[in-house]
Amino acid sequence: MANDAGNYTFGIDEAAMSVIALSCVRNQADVTSAMDLGVKYILNKKKNDGSFGNEYTTSLALQAFDAVSHPDLTGLKKNAISVLLKAMGEDGSFQSISAATHVMPVLANKTYADIRVICRKGTSAPMSTTTPGQPISFTITLQSTRLSPGTTRRFTVTTNNGTSLYYAMRELEAGEVGFSFTSRQTSWGVSITSLMGVASSSKERIYWQMLQSPSSPLTTTADKFYPNDGDDIIFRLVTYEGTLVG
Ligand SMILES: *[C@@H]1O[C@H](CO)[C@@H](O)[C@H](O)[C@H]1NC(C)=O
Ligand SMILES: *[C@@H]1O[C@H](CO)[C@@H](O)[C@H](O)[C@H]1NC(C)=O
Ligand SMILES: *[C@@H]1O[C@H](CO)[C@@H](O)[C@H](O)[C@H]1NC(C)=O
Repeated sequence: MANDAGNYTFGIDEAAMSVIALSCVRNQADVTSAMDLGVKYILNKKKNDGSFGNEYTTSLALQAFDAVSHPDLTGLKKNAISVLLKAMGEDGSFQSISAATHVMPVLANKTYADIRVICRKGTSAPMSTTTPGQPISFTITLQSTRLSPGTTRRFTVTTNNGTSLYYAMRELEAGEVGFSFTSRQTSWGVSITSLMGVASSSKERIYWQMLQSPSSPLTTTADKFYPNDGDDIIFRLVTYEGTLVG
């Protein structure tokens, strides 16, 4: 792969993914020049508004910058992020799930290389630009009579220690195990607006309460909560008064 750096049939998207992938093995092989080539390629294609194309491409480009973590790129990232944020709907959503999936890691200063599975494939290299955590495993339990099938669903999440609940949920969703959720960026953090298609509703005065098993309500938003190995995080659809929605 390193030999092919600089020739990207699929443009920025491919260059960015190459840089991100190369960052996985940088402690094992000298891939610095290949990464530099990829970044140069991306920089040459910067648009006048500071973006690198659509939300998807811009997000990948920014993840590549994060992967090389060069201080000179910080300003560029800021500009491009402000373009990205303009594309965000008033409710904090992006046009499409796939755009949001790419944008979210960027806002969290993460790259796809932080997702275990990409870097673990065929290599035992350290995973990311940030200090990798130990692998941990925890469960997410959903409780609502509105779920189908059943009133309880449980998912096991395997991720790195230090990954936020929110980001772990994104990983779980990407894992295609049937888990899905929507969220909204608020001024205090990410708010979970629906799980498995079951939405919170101010009209109905119901929301998804988050608890650490057995019954401690989380005191922070999902993006600021860091699960521990063995945790069971419960999402329970309750009324504003706290009773389970029956
Ligand atoms: C880039 O790849 C294309 C298609 O494989 C090839 O035709 C071209 O010669 C390559 N260019 C360089 C500079 O390697
Ligand atoms: C991401 O990095 C930027 C620039 O270093 C910093 O200002 C911002 O707070 C970071 N965001 C998160 C979520 O860590
Ligand atoms: C995860 O990190 C926390 C805080 O750094 C630490 O207390 C805990 O022991 C770690 N757990 C594992 C399984 O490494």
